[in-house]
Amino acid sequence: MERPDGFLKLIGREIKSSGLYQSTNSGDAYMDNDVKEIVLESWNKWSSDYDSYYPHTIKSAKEDLEWKNTLKKLVGNKVQNILDVGTGTGFLAIDLTEMGHKVKGIDLSEGMLKEAERKAKDRNLEIQFVIGDVEELDEPDNSYDIVINRFILWTMQYPEKAIREWTRVLKPGGRLIVIDGMWFDKKLSYQVEKFLGNLLILFTEFKNPWKKTTYFEGNLKERLPFTKNKNACTVNLIFKKCGLKDVKVTELVEVEKEEKKVMSLKELLLNPYRKIVIEGVKPE
Ligand SMILES: C[S@@+](CC[C@H](N)C(=O)[O-])C[C@H]1O[C@@H](n2cnc3c(N)ncnc32)[C@H](O)[C@@H]1O
Repeated sequence: MERPDGFLKLIGREIKSSGLYQSTNSGDAYMDNDVKEIVLESWNKWSSDYDSYYPHTIKSAKEDLEWKNTLKKLVGNKVQNILDVGTGTGFLAIDLTEMGHKVKGIDLSEGMLKEAERKAKDRNLEIQFVIGDVEELDEPDNSYDIVINRFILWTMQYPEKAIREWTRVLKPGGRLIVIDGMWFDKKLSYQVEKFLGNLLILFTEFKNPWKKTTYFEGNLKERLPFTKNKNACTVNLIFKKCGLKDVKVTELVEVEKEEKKVMSLKELLLNPYRKIVIEGVKPE
């Protein structure tokens, strides 16, 4: 995996969990780089078992087929030059490479990228994975046909800045495709389903489901704006603000249908969130 010059200043530093996110005064004392380092370290910690969590990887052949059908509809048949921002363990990069596209995957977390590289190697795929910050891409203007990502917006400190940056590297006429879940939508039906899922854990596994174990420590989520009751549909407004046209939001209906077929009752209740795709075109 490639490490661009200058980036190691961020990832090479030892991260001491106890120090970095303690406020130095009574208010919010995070520095931007500290936030990024905590995000990075959280994903490094999560990397080895990220794929085992719903809904990160494919659980059935039919779901795999539906993802590929969906991606084919989104990306088209023509071979495209694609940038997968926040590629993580490489889900989109791998699928899109298997479909014949030229893909580069960028991520902050070396741990996640190691998993991506391992999976690509297992499948005999040549994919360029690079360590980098997708809020400040080290990529020239107007260079990609498609910029795509899945499930990353909520973990961006500055989602609008990120979307502007992704738009910058798109060729005129190129498309930005964001696949996201409504993870932090406080809709009542989501809360009821999660509550029932937690009750199921309490009475069948005799564990306290409300005792949270999280990879995101401290009050980091306070600094990630999309974790605060933001409906992911608001993303389409940001797309428009960033100058993208033909913006549309669709639901990942077919993929979800297949996913749900292999989920247990507990998984169904704990994961009620709908998934959406937001698309926009960079004007010529
Ligand atoms: C929920 S995972 C999604 C991974 C993958 N796209 C997928 O579909 O499974 C979020 C990813 O975003 C990455 N990430 C978060 N902030 C980032 C940043 N500023 N620059 C690059 N990657 C970032 C994390 O390291 C993590 O791999």
